[in-house]
Amino acid sequence: MTPGRGARILVVDDNEALRRGIALALREGGHALDQAASGSEALARIRDPAADPYEVVITDLRLPGADGLAVLRAARTREARAAVLVMTAFGSVEVAVGAMREGAFDFVQKPFELDQLEVRVARAVEHVRLLREVSDLRAERSARYAPENLVGRSPALRAAVDLARRAAPTRTTVLISGETGTGKELVAGLIHGLSPRSERPFVKVNCAALPETLLESELFGHERGAFTGADRTRVGRFEQADGGTLFLDEVGDMSPATQAKLLRVLQEQEFHRLGGTRPLRTDVRIVAATNQDLRAAIAEGTFREDLYFRLAVIGIHLPPLREREDDVVLLANHLRDEFARELGRPRSGFDRAALAKLRTHPWPGNVRELRNAVERALLMAERPWIGPDDLALAPAGGEAARDLDLAGCTLAEVERGAVLAALRRSGFVQKRAAALLGVSRRKLNYMIRKMGITHPSWRRNRGASAGDDAPPSLDSAVDIG
Ligand SMILES: Nc1ncnc2c1ncn2[C@@H]1O[C@H](COP(=O)(O)OP(=O)(O)OP(=O)(O)O)[C@@H](O)[C@H]1O
Ligand SMILES: [Mg+2]
Repeated sequence: MTPGRGARILVVDDNEALRRGIALALREGGHALDQAASGSEALARIRDPAADPYEVVITDLRLPGADGLAVLRAARTREARAAVLVMTAFGSVEVAVGAMREGAFDFVQKPFELDQLEVRVARAVEHVRLLREVSDLRAERSARYAPENLVGRSPALRAAVDLARRAAPTRTTVLISGETGTGKELVAGLIHGLSPRSERPFVKVNCAALPETLLESELFGHERGAFTGADRTRVGRFEQADGGTLFLDEVGDMSPATQAKLLRVLQEQEFHRLGGTRPLRTDVRIVAATNQDLRAAIAEGTFREDLYFRLAVIGIHLPPLREREDDVVLLANHLRDEFARELGRPRSGFDRAALAKLRTHPWPGNVRELRNAVERALLMAERPWIGPDDLALAPAGGEAARDLDLAGCTLAEVERGAVLAALRRSGFVQKRAAALLGVSRRKLNYMIRKMGITHPSWRRNRGASAGDDAPPSLDSAVDIG
């Protein structure tokens, strides 16, 4: 049954006039109607494996053949979501109550007006539709958060996923850290999906998106009149997530006041709605995420250390994509398959140059950037394969050694390209770039100075971090930020 369309309905009654009357009226309402004159005929129709299950069954209780309760059970056995409406003779309320206990959705007493029945049928159809929607959403959610969707073989990623799996069955608070687009939300969903709470809500709050008071009312709710504009009581996310998981995204962006409130809730397992006096309790598992370095934030005094320890009972760090070179191609192929299916496009392969570009690109936006690049490439590629230009990546690889057409290049140019590529890939951390190039840090630092390469992050660090990544840049230096 698709929304807005009619439902598949069976009417069971041995009184032919009544049965036809009902069928006629409901057919006018856009539903697909079948009729059965006896219990046994109804059972045969319900159990017919060649036909779709009925969504609504309207049945008399006293029937020749098998009785209404047998029809009720058969309908619900075939399709657990089926709504069964029973019709009872006047004065036999106990029988109707018995049917409700057996799982009937509603009952009407004979004699009734047809429009009275129509109202009840409309409610039953709506009910079935909602059940269907909920289970579709659940299936979609668990498919989205299924472990197989988390692609990657690099040890750092596997370790993170492993930790998530082990944390999942517990109620322990988890803090997920990692740069933007590394999969923090995906892992949060995975933890929920693998937990005993998976059938309960997974509620997400983006702590960076809202100003302080709005965030607090979002989290804890408010009573009517708590502040100007609070003209209705509002249930907060903590209450909505009862029995489930509350995902606090960008938790590093909370104001000090909200941090203090959250800490209190975590310690006391109790909270108030804004403007409320009644203490409320919910059973919520907290998973938080941040792309900030919370330890640095603690050192700077912008994040509470006590809250940090409450949240990071288990800390999961997701590595940036540039540190997972082998995963890039794996992920690119996986995403290509996914988009090809979604867009109805052939599964074009990446050509050699595209693969090289994927491997050398620094991926500042991590998996999200890769996702976008692959989607765009599938849409743009005019040939049956994906070339480097289809990926339309920021020209970071332009000077990269692997992309150089060596014909006509001087050794100095090749060297410069290699140094730049290594720096980009390592996020401009010289120590890592030196390791990639297989030279000492001293040597790399010397080359960088000679080539006149500089980067804004080095300038910022200068002085503070005792020159670790801060070569004294020449006046004529090229800034490649
Ligand atoms: N290992 C992975 N395998 C497959 N898809 C991934 C993986 N990691 C991330 N993704 C996909 O990349 C996109 C970004 O992931 P996600 O939203 O979880 O990142 P995030 O860390 O929460 O980013 P932000 O900090 O910007 O909110 C999503 O579409 C997600 O499905
Ligand atoms: Mg996120």
